[in-house]
Amino acid sequence: MKILVTGGLGFIGSHTVVELQQRGYEVVIIDNLSNSSLTVLDGIENITGKRPFFEQLELRDKSSVFSFFEIHQDIVGVIHFAASKAVGESVTNPLLYYENNINTLVYVLQALEKYQIPNFIFSSSCTVYGQADELPITENAAIKNAESPYGNTKQIGEEIIQEVCGVSKDLKAIALRYFNPIGAHPSSEIGELPIGVPQNLVPYITQTGIGIRNELSVFGNDYPTADGTCVRDYIHVVDLAKAHAVALERLMNNHNKNSYETFNVGTGTGSTVLEVIQSFERVSGTSLSYSIAPRRFGDVISAYADTTKVNIELGWKAELSLDDAMRSAWDWENRIKK
Ligand code: WQD
Repeated sequence: MKILVTGGLGFIGSHTVVELQQRGYEVVIIDNLSNSSLTVLDGIENITGKRPFFEQLELRDKSSVFSFFEIHQDIVGVIHFAASKAVGESVTNPLLYYENNINTLVYVLQALEKYQIPNFIFSSSCTVYGQADELPITENAAIKNAESPYGNTKQIGEEIIQEVCGVSKDLKAIALRYFNPIGAHPSSEIGELPIGVPQNLVPYITQTGIGIRNELSVFGNDYPTADGTCVRDYIHVVDLAKAHAVALERLMNNHNKNSYETFNVGTGTGSTVLEVIQSFERVSGTSLSYSIAPRRFGDVISAYADTTKVNIELGWKAELSLDDAMRSAWDWENRIKK
């Protein structure tokens, strides 16, 4: 069975492609290569022995989207990763985010309707919750006013999908609200490829560890947490990839309870920034150079998932630890250095 993965050469997309191939699916990828590289295709092939069909395509071009689906009418499911995802950039360039994250979603959904493709997985984010009132965060937690255009595009995207599923006779969808994806495939064939200075914690740590960056700035240690630094739910990208395959199969097997469902995908455990640094030092055997810097605007104090629904309803549970993720991230950093 043929599955389309949009943004399939990206960080989470590429790991999901590997997972789908290893489960026997034929995978086709479209990606505009704005935040990825064709070398990722080699990495996927080196892991699975199968090179996915790839087409470089700009999802903002509606006619290209429909031409693609006209050729690939045998697609039975779509996992939609393609989007811009840098919180800071979305603040300075909101229209890029609304065009690239919303228009493209509408075009893909229109194509699904036209070609009657019934199964859709949407890449969403815990960012939709903002600073949740209660921890751990359940799927019923209030959706707060978005703290960035990026977060707003995820909220709007979910609303669009829910409304379309509500009136479509075929479409079933699941939105996966990721917490903090980190790490790399254990083979070190694929991993995170941040362009420029990493905005996210873990790639900044590994680049500091390998000497690309001088030192890590820890954005604030005066938060009301165990050690004063922010708490996040760091999930191994391989565990996250598995969650996508399980969610897709839920829809393909008609096990979904509603035409639109959401799941928080995390480990259920929060870790502070200092704990992530300590994990890095354990697995790398090196000490990390870091200093305490002012708080970063927009950071929530603490966010980690209540995993009851995803464990019981979806039948998925994170299996890999923070150390597993940090070790794979460090191995990957050492691999790409070469
Ligand atoms: C984690 C913690 C920082 C960098 C964002 C998006 C989210 C998702 C993941 C796309 C925070 C601290 C970070 C640094 C630091 N993106 N930090 N020094 O902000 O939780 O989530 O990325 O889907 O939607 O919101 O992740 O890795 O940027 O930060 O101290 O150099 O690390 O303050 O507490 P975040 P992050």
